[in-house]
Formats: sequence, structure tokens, C-alpha cells
Amino acid sequence: MGKQPGAERNHEPFDVLKDQLRSRLLKYTEKAFRMMPQTDKPKILDIGCGSGIPTLELARLGQGEVIGIDIDQTVLDKFAEKIAAAGINKQVKAFNCSLFDIDFPEESFDVIWAEGAIHTIGFERGLREWRWLLKPGGAMVIHDEQGDVKDKLEQMSDCGYELLGYFLLGEGTWRREYFAPLEKLLAEYQTNMPVNPKVIEEIRQAQEELDMFRKNPEGNSSVFFVMRRKY
Ligand SMILES: C[S@@+](CC[C@H](N)C(=O)[O-])C[C@H]1O[C@@H](n2cnc3c(N)ncnc32)[C@H](O)[C@@H]1O
Repeated sequence: MGKQPGAERNHEPFDVLKDQLRSRLLKYTEKAFRMMPQTDKPKILDIGCGSGIPTLELARLGQGEVIGIDIDQTVLDKFAEKIAAAGINKQVKAFNCSLFDIDFPEESFDVIWAEGAIHTIGFERGLREWRWLLKPGGAMVIHDEQGDVKDKLEQMSDCGYELLGYFLLGEGTWRREYFAPLEKLLAEYQTNMPVNPKVIEEIRQAQEELDMFRKNPEGNSSVFFVMRRKY
């Protein structure tokens, strides 16, 4: 079978190249991980795990069991392939489950992690509804759009968490680490578009992401909150 046009230049499919861009932000996942109290082989739930880029990093950093949940079966299938390729099926699991319907027993996890997903349920509601899944003293790490940080800090306290720390990823970081390389990648594809409709759709979504950033770069700032269940 011949190669798809657009696949030759980079020798990797578009989704793999896009994952590589997402991986450039993993240094911040690691930074947040190091801000938590360190537990031996923590059991971690990654909510809205996508294709598992932060999830696999959490497995590497913690060496414990990690469960990722998401509702997009296409990305979960990609994640499952990565788990199988790494031979870590016993350590890392991916389930199709909505973040509105999480039904693990109370106090199942040492750590709850959510990057780019809590806005779906709302910051405060997510903190309230997911708290019971954490063992007392367990840690929650949320990577969310910046919004009103002062408000969010108050909500954390009201919902029974102690703040361990937080840090911002500003416009400059997002531009340097993600959007500038994404722009370059998309420009390469524009000159030689693939024919596969799935790849075309992936490219369209990435272009939409970039256009949103260009329209409002400041609005793309995000924040990592690291907190602990108080009681
Ligand atoms: C911005 S992506 C982040 C993916 C991954 N956490 C990362 O940082 O690379 C948000 C993810 O949340 C998932 N998501 C959206 N609504 C959801 C829901 N109701 N339940 C579970 N996951 C959901 C999406 O499918 C998507 O994979």
C-alpha cells in the first residue's frame, strides 16, 4: 500500500507528531508531581486522560497503578495501543467513563489528576464531587484555564482542600512550547494535505485550536493547582 500524501515528510503520522508537541509540556506535569507529598507507588486516577500523555508520565514518575478515564473512544484506543506497546497493561488502565459518572469506591486513590478537563463539570463542582475518591490526605492536581485564581483558591478551601502550591503557564510558555511548533507543523501539512479523512479532521481540529490561541493568546494562560484533601 502506498503512503498517504503528507505522511512522508515527517515519517510519523500527524497524531504522533501532535502528541510530541503535547509532550513538550510534560515538564510542568513533573513539576506539579514533585510538589505533592511523595507516596510509595501512589494509585492515581487521571480524569479526562485523552491519549494518555500525562497518564503515562504519571506512571513513570510514581511507578504505581494509574487509571485514565475519558469519553472519547478514538483517543482511548490510541492510549490502549501505547499501553500495549510499552507492556504495562497491569500498571496502566484506560476506561471509557464520563467524569460526571465516576463510580469507584470512596477513598480509592492517593492522587487525582486532571489536566484540561475540569472545566467540563466546573471547577468547584469537580472539587466537591471528586474529593470522596481520595484517601484522606491524598493529593489532587488540577491543570485548568487560569480564570480567577483568587476565586479558585477560595473554592479549594471551601471544598475541604489545603493548597500545597500553584504555578501559571502564561501565554509565552504556551506559545514557545506548543503553539509556535504547532503552527510550523500545520504549515508543513498545508503544502501537502493528506487524503485520509480522519487525518484531515485531526488537522482541522488542530487548526481550530491554533486559531483560538491567535485570537486571544492571553486567554490561553493556564494554572496548575496542587492541593491535599484536608479531612
Ligand atoms: C484538553 S483534553 C486533555 C487531555 C489530557 N488530559 C492532556 O492533558 O493531554 C480534555 C479531555 O477531556 C475529555 N473529556 C471531555 N468531556 C469528558 C467527560 N464528560 N468525561 C471524561 N472525559 C471528558 C476529552 O475527551 C479530552 O480527551
